[in-house]
Amino acid sequence: AVAEKDGYAHFMLKEIHEQPAAYRRALAGRLLTGYPWVYLPELQLTAERLRQFRSVHIVACGTAYHAGLVGQTAIERWARLPVLTDVASEYRYRQPLITPETLVIVVSQSGETADTLAAMREARRQGAHVLAITNVVGSTAAREADDVLFTCAGPEISVASTKAYTTQLLVLYLFALHMACARGTLPAEEIGPIVEALGRLPEQAAALLERADDVADYAQSIAWQEHLFFIGRGADYAVAMEGSLKLKEISYIHSEAYAAGELKHGTLALIEEGTPVVALATQPELYEKTVSNIKEVIARGAQVLGIAAAGQPDLSVHAHRTLTIPDTHPMLAPALAVIPLQLLAYYASVTLGHDVDKPRNLAKSVTVE
Ligand code: G6P
Repeated sequence: AVAEKDGYAHFMLKEIHEQPAAYRRALAGRLLTGYPWVYLPELQLTAERLRQFRSVHIVACGTAYHAGLVGQTAIERWARLPVLTDVASEYRYRQPLITPETLVIVVSQSGETADTLAAMREARRQGAHVLAITNVVGSTAAREADDVLFTCAGPEISVASTKAYTTQLLVLYLFALHMACARGTLPAEEIGPIVEALGRLPEQAAALLERADDVADYAQSIAWQEHLFFIGRGADYAVAMEGSLKLKEISYIHSEAYAAGELKHGTLALIEEGTPVVALATQPELYEKTVSNIKEVIARGAQVLGIAAAGQPDLSVHAHRTLTIPDTHPMLAPALAVIPLQLLAYYASVTLGHDVDKPRNLAKSVTVE
């Protein structure tokens, strides 16, 4: 019904534009201006218990798995623990090394995905503490986990996940900071600016959405291409994977996400005259390295859309087109950089006349293994 879409043509577009409000809800009451910086009173986990963990496993499917990959980087960097991230359908069968010192985080929008629930039950059976990050209050994951953090995205109708993914990122950031605080692995001088940067994300997401037309324009220019590449390093690589998945899910354009430094070890041969490449370069430490990968693909004829962070050297001297995301802490850049990629998938699908909200062969929540 048109009314439910609030005047938007599709639920997906509505949900993309709801992200600033969803970010506010996910962060509401959870940020503090001093120690312990993050307020998550719903957790059963005590600071003492948080200090006892030796490893973290993040388990999820689809888009939630991509959120997990970003969460892995944050937990490793900030809480200094080894993190394994895996898709649920693989995790269960790899005989994971689970002990009572393992924290297993399951990420699931619906909290009902069969593969994720099965992995979660197996992890609990083996003695892990299981934390569920989910959007649905009363879902099976929320009921069965030892601990739950809700993402507060609000109902997501479109099969392609947008605000559910970005709020998963925010909750993973919050939890990574919470862990870092309990474990004493991140000095206050570093935590303060991250907490501040988190608080700025809602307005920055809104500012980015005001430039949706630029992305629509680019989407029309690539909609008839056979394949695309998304490249990036570090957190940008995780975002590249999500951008590629989103495009495949709803526009059916084939794309691959590649770690930018890995292209030359094989896949570079697929870059030909005119191949579109979306290059993410939001990470200051990796900026120069990514620029050299952009030069590599341009030398093979690629047409590059660069996505960079404000406050970094001008990417437009290297890329054919550029989009700039507002300046934030590098670890938080995925929560902004993914927005143009969601819009890219959306407008490509619309341009090609596909059923955006109900893509073929996909279900919102898959309750069979
Ligand atoms: C399905 C959906 C995906 C989603 C995945 C995990 O395959 O099509 O968009 O990412 O399930 O769903 P969950 O509810 O567990 O996050």
